[in-house]
Amino acid sequence: MSFDRSIKIAPSILSADFANFGKEIQAIEAQGCDWVHVDVMDGHFVPNLTFGPPAVKAFRPHVKTVMDVHLMISPVDQYIDAYADAGADILTAHLEAGPHIHRTLQAIRAAGMKAGLALNPGTPASAAAELMDSVDLICVMTVNPGFGGQKFIDMTAKVRQLREMIGDRPVHIEIDGGVDPTTAPLVAAAGADVLVAGSAVFRGGSVDKPEVYGDNIRAIRDAANAALG
Ligand code: DX5
Ligand code: ZN
Repeated sequence: MSFDRSIKIAPSILSADFANFGKEIQAIEAQGCDWVHVDVMDGHFVPNLTFGPPAVKAFRPHVKTVMDVHLMISPVDQYIDAYADAGADILTAHLEAGPHIHRTLQAIRAAGMKAGLALNPGTPASAAAELMDSVDLICVMTVNPGFGGQKFIDMTAKVRQLREMIGDRPVHIEIDGGVDPTTAPLVAAAGADVLVAGSAVFRGGSVDKPEVYGDNIRAIRDAANAALG
């Protein structure tokens, strides 16, 4: 994975047809997404349950871009090798998921994946101050994790603060939750470069109408790029 800060759209398959993941992944990639965002939920760290390592391994052959796995689970460490084996390119853990996030991030990199750190809306940017050299991506949650289709919580000040803290390190800022053509420009202007979108990509489309996915992806990307001038 090479690093650049151009705007990337990462559809979350949480909003896809759960009976058709393979075809849905092929459809969003054919329609121009940059990454595939995979939301793993354990029903403990968040009040919802999605899928685990066996499912993520089954998604892998269909993903030709980047498999961006977002772990909304606690604890994390004992599952890192299973997600490496499943083929995750990026593995993101929540700072709030346990007491030793620095060790978790080291273990993710040691397992050969890019290390992501997710911050819930209630967690300040300053909590990541000692982790700037341990991460490849910071995921700023703009909803409380657990569900797609929620209302965007404005975290633009936190995004600006993080972009300042990152400096010229090759670290992505990913926005996750409530991203659509209206909110995308706000976070892009603040310094975010990866935009996760579930409902705003999948709404109105299907594997039989994939062109809607392409229209939705383009609308988000164009709105973000317009804010960058
Ligand atoms: C929420 C997930 C998000 C969510 C995004 O816990 O981490 O990735 O699926 O869905 P939308 O874009 O519909 O808010
Ligand atoms: Zn997510």
